Amino acid sequence: MDIDVEEIRNHFPIFERFRRDGIVYLDNAATTQKPREVVDAITSFYYNSNSNVHRGVYRIGEEATELYNHSRENIASFIGARSEEIVFVRNATEALNIAANNLPDVVGRDSEVIISRMEHHSNIVPWHLASTRYGIRVKMMENLPDRQITWEDIEKNLTKKTRIVSLSQCSNILGTINDLSAIGKRLHELGIIFVVDAAQSVPHMPVDVKKLNCDLLAFSGHKMLGPSGIGCLYGTSEILENMPPYMGGGEMIREVYENGFTTADVPEKFEAGTPNIEGAIGLSAAVDFLKRIGMDNVRSHEKELIKYTLEKEEEYALESLHSYGPRNPDIRAGIYTFQMKKGDSGKPYGNYVHPHDISHLADRIRGVEIRSGHHCAMPQTVALGTYATARASFYIYNGKEDVDTFFDALKAIEKKMIA
Ligand SMILES: Cc1ncc(COP(=O)(O)O)c(C=O)c1O
Repeated sequence: MDIDVEEIRNHFPIFERFRRDGIVYLDNAATTQKPREVVDAITSFYYNSNSNVHRGVYRIGEEATELYNHSRENIASFIGARSEEIVFVRNATEALNIAANNLPDVVGRDSEVIISRMEHHSNIVPWHLASTRYGIRVKMMENLPDRQITWEDIEKNLTKKTRIVSLSQCSNILGTINDLSAIGKRLHELGIIFVVDAAQSVPHMPVDVKKLNCDLLAFSGHKMLGPSGIGCLYGTSEILENMPPYMGGGEMIREVYENGFTTADVPEKFEAGTPNIEGAIGLSAAVDFLKRIGMDNVRSHEKELIKYTLEKEEEYALESLHSYGPRNPDIRAGIYTFQMKKGDSGKPYGNYVHPHDISHLADRIRGVEIRSGHHCAMPQTVALGTYATARASFYIYNGKEDVDTFFDALKAIEKKMIA
């Protein structure tokens, strides 16, 4: 591994508590911990330069604007974009809502959008809402839980009316990393708009929007060491210019008249009201932290962890353990979703440990903190034949010993709960 996990942990104040209380945090697909550098960048803004942006021509007003603009440039360069192609939003969910709300006016309301079954609700529900509001048709294509989405999957669902395809680059439940570059290229040849949900990819692997051939891309700051309440919508200048504004108010206008208004240039056209200035500054500090480690190293570290997890699964050979997702670490992120059940008793709770119990017990028995539920991916969860699973997910501060502790916890749970 190219990452020194112990050294990295020293940058995270919460690890003092984790060490003291024996906590092994494995819910990184939900949100990540924050390094001191991020906390300091936000605190320093409040202590030294706090003021609104794009308004005051006094010193701290100019400083705040400079910090905010620099953050946008820094975050843009992280994904191979230009500054004006980055719209600051609250999170990936908001970015995808902007896409679903505004694209029907670009492509026409008689259009179809294709999504996949492995999508997070944030890349499903906004399209359903757009369907109700604007009449576009949503098609959810099937996918197999152990392989990537292929062009053939998409092709089966294409019609003359398909104008948008919206897919996640990495599934938050299966851990599948979809190879989207070639898909994006083919969609462009057909003049179809390609939206990418990158909430689980931008934090964990090198992402270059130009190589992805996408038109719009969404991600959240809190899943990549940054603060909550800040995320990004990347869009090509062409698409951002063609889309109508999402909200009206200050910042997004050029001029306002008694009977109308003209819009500001992109990206401000989509940023009505005072933005989350400290959020952008914090996210930029998170990006600096990740850039120092190197995204290739982040990815290879997590690949090594999931490989080790799959090896340990075989070594422990727990009778009740059923996990999901591709077995090939090359196409698998650091996400391990599973259930514990023995045989098929036919009874809903016979020899079946409810994922909430797994999560609760893993914490009580070994301090291992994992997620349980449908992970905001109900169609995929139901397609796995269940209503809930448990999920462990890794990041840069997790090491192989965390995986060992996790399996020790599962072993103890099996012993305690499975007859
Ligand atoms: C794949 C995926 N897309 C979108 C989201 C939504 O992210 P947020 O809640 O930060 O908007 C998540 C969150 O878990 C996710 O995993």
